[in-house]
Amino acid sequence: MTRPLIVLGSGYTGLVLHRTGTLQGRTVHATSRTPLTSLADIPSEQRLRFDLEQPSTWGNIPAGADLIWCFPATPLEQVQAFARTLDTSARRMVVLGSTSAYEASDHSTEYPPSWIDESSPIDMTKPRVLGEEYLREQHGAIVLRVAGIYGPGRNPLDWIRHGRVSPSRKYVNLIHAEDLAAICLLALEKGKPGESYNVSDGTPRTWNEIYATAQQRWGVAATEGKKDGSPGKRISTAKLRSELGYRFRHSDLYEALDLIESLSPPENGV
Ligand SMILES: NC(=O)c1ccc[n+]([C@@H]2O[C@H](COP(=O)([O-])OP(=O)(O)OC[C@H]3O[C@@H](n4cnc5c(N)ncnc54)[C@H](OP(=O)(O)O)[C@@H]3O)[C@@H](O)[C@H]2O)c1
Repeated sequence: MTRPLIVLGSGYTGLVLHRTGTLQGRTVHATSRTPLTSLADIPSEQRLRFDLEQPSTWGNIPAGADLIWCFPATPLEQVQAFARTLDTSARRMVVLGSTSAYEASDHSTEYPPSWIDESSPIDMTKPRVLGEEYLREQHGAIVLRVAGIYGPGRNPLDWIRHGRVSPSRKYVNLIHAEDLAAICLLALEKGKPGESYNVSDGTPRTWNEIYATAQQRWGVAATEGKKDGSPGKRISTAKLRSELGYRFRHSDLYEALDLIESLSPPENGV
């Protein structure tokens, strides 16, 4: 029998994880700082109050349950103090990091930018990277360095409609929330403790390409956004594919966007 699973921080990804884990037959508990309001749609016996900043809530995390940590692991002192209360040798833990951990290539003139794999340098001046590395090195956490998350309600076409992004040669890496949730569960089962894995759909695209396709395929007109001349990053997912053997449900961004557009009206009704 699988151990119960705790989704630590049930925001956008956490709620998809709760649903996916439950569908896979696991007992999944979701945490929130305000469970009564934020987790109203989750059965009451599966809701837990947890706030990293409130040590009095740490005891609400059951012993022996696996953990998927879905908010930035910071500040370091709180992360360390909380982790010491967990028997991390008796449970498996996945921590969601970000591809922003990789040192910015904004000053590089190389274009297209070279591929970034898990051995590329990370920026240890970033507080969340310190927290993630502590959990990975000292507690055997499996750290997923996650690309931009999209899905229903987080629609890149809406980012274009509202000028939150702009057409440029900059590369962006994206991952559908459903694939991310399934990868978290797979990493919990098959990932090697203390390892990190990049998580993206494996196809970095430039914003120019996404804009052109958005216009041709969905007639999305661009509004003026802030200009960005940096090359961006190209995230390699070779390790994810070879070691975890994940098969993507949404490997094609544009097919996934078709589905999202058909499911929901654009954000803010625009
Ligand atoms: N969004 C992206 O494109 C992206 C890209 C790469 C990596 N990531 C990372 O992936 C993870 C999941 O992203 P997401 O966008 O799904 O996150 P999200 O929607 O912001 O959800 C995280 C949830 O964690 C809870 N939380 C925040 N601070 C907490 C604290 N100090 N103690 C306890 N709970 C806390 C909050 O829920 P309550 O308010 O209910 O407590 C929050 O809704 C995050 O670590 C994020 O930084 C995100």
